[in-house]
Amino acid sequence: MLKPQITMIGGGMIAHDQILPSLYQLQRQGAIGEITVCAQHAKTLQALRDNAMIHQRAFPGHSFRAVPDPAVDASAKDSLAYRKVIAAMPPRQIVIVAIPDQLHHEVIMTALRHDQHVIAVKPLVLTIAHALEIEREARSRNLFVGVEYHKRFDDRSLLARRRYREGMFGEFKLGTARLMEKWYYRHSNFQNWFTPENSDAFTYIGCHYVDFVHFVTGLIPTAVSVYGIKDKFPNGNEGYLWTDARVLWNNGACLNVQNTLSFPDEAPGSNTQGITLYFSDGERGAWLDHSDQYRGIKYCYTRRLNTDGGTTFHEPSTEYFQYIDLGGPGLSCTGYGFRSVDQLVRAAIRVESAGVGERAALLKEIDDAEVIATPSNSSYNEAVMEAGRLSILNGGKLAVIEAGDPPRVRLE
Ligand SMILES: NC(=O)c1ccc[n+]([C@@H]2O[C@H](COP(=O)([O-])OP(=O)(O)OC[C@H]3O[C@@H](n4cnc5c(N)ncnc54)[C@H](O)[C@@H]3O)[C@@H](O)[C@H]2O)c1
Repeated sequence: MLKPQITMIGGGMIAHDQILPSLYQLQRQGAIGEITVCAQHAKTLQALRDNAMIHQRAFPGHSFRAVPDPAVDASAKDSLAYRKVIAAMPPRQIVIVAIPDQLHHEVIMTALRHDQHVIAVKPLVLTIAHALEIEREARSRNLFVGVEYHKRFDDRSLLARRRYREGMFGEFKLGTARLMEKWYYRHSNFQNWFTPENSDAFTYIGCHYVDFVHFVTGLIPTAVSVYGIKDKFPNGNEGYLWTDARVLWNNGACLNVQNTLSFPDEAPGSNTQGITLYFSDGERGAWLDHSDQYRGIKYCYTRRLNTDGGTTFHEPSTEYFQYIDLGGPGLSCTGYGFRSVDQLVRAAIRVESAGVGERAALLKEIDDAEVIATPSNSSYNEAVMEAGRLSILNGGKLAVIEAGDPPRVRLE
């Protein structure tokens, strides 16, 4: 079976928390070959290499090739190294894009132009035009592009989707969602890029719940307003660290999404998040309520957990991502964080393993199934990103998404 090389661009939080361990698990299963990680700073890669949970406890014997290599120059910095790394790959391997939101477009296009399949963390890109460009380039080369919306692989999302499509809820009318990350995020690398011109709390994490509502209901967003409150990072940079978004849908429904980097560090668990939706079939109301951060486990340890934001009282989630001991070697990762990476990587492998003449049909099949997010089946997300950015930078005015080919975003 084909074992693609994987190059991940970016070695920050999402690489550490989810993607690299998931890749090691796939490597252990024999599904993928060598892993390269390219980051802007060698010291980022050193920290990733030194991570004892990943490299000693969970995946002893696994390692990645680092560019720039901290063993050669620990202080190296190269923001364009990804170009050389991608250019040196054999064609039709896999590039994973895990860098700040505003840089995705450039790196994805570089990978596609070098004939690489692409997996991008969400949001794919921030404008409709960029998403279309990616879709066209990928299609012309029969390359797979998948967007890592991992909530889609939470069983509760898949169950809600099936029940909605069976007509059990009627039609979505109103909803409210929240995803608040912890305060300590403000001390991370975020303070260097999460500034008003690049991103905001809604763009960063609100997109998950917009995607969820489409994933479950199939409805399309038509207008967005995002009210943002600026706050200061420890380094003095400002960012929209508090956002309240209202997303309207093509049946007139309305979803409210609140996002912040403010959840108290001492609160148990890594964030607070959930969604409540209200529906109607015209005669009866229906209701869905997902508590996505708390799943009934309460631990109080003898000492503080030795992780970023670690607490003594803890409500761990076994859903997103955990390491478990299944008898070795090392530990295994479990949860929808792993399942998502697994599905995306295996989709790219499936496309590449198909005969040259069969790839276009297979890519269309993946698009049409609408389980894996692709540029063509999830472009409403880019429309929401573009409208949301336009709105927040204009004091929360409503930004309308006009249907069309391509859709157009304008302030009302
Ligand atoms: N819930 C989620 O789905 C989720 C969670 C976290 C992050 N993300 C997404 O992942 C992306 C990265 O977020 P993060 O939390 O890992 O951020 P981070 O700030 O922790 O890490 C960013 C990484 O990108 C690297 N980078 C920046 N410019 C680069 C360049 N020119 N070349 C190579 N590497 C470069 C940095 O070195 C760093 O390793 C963002 O798009 C974010 O929205 C998604």
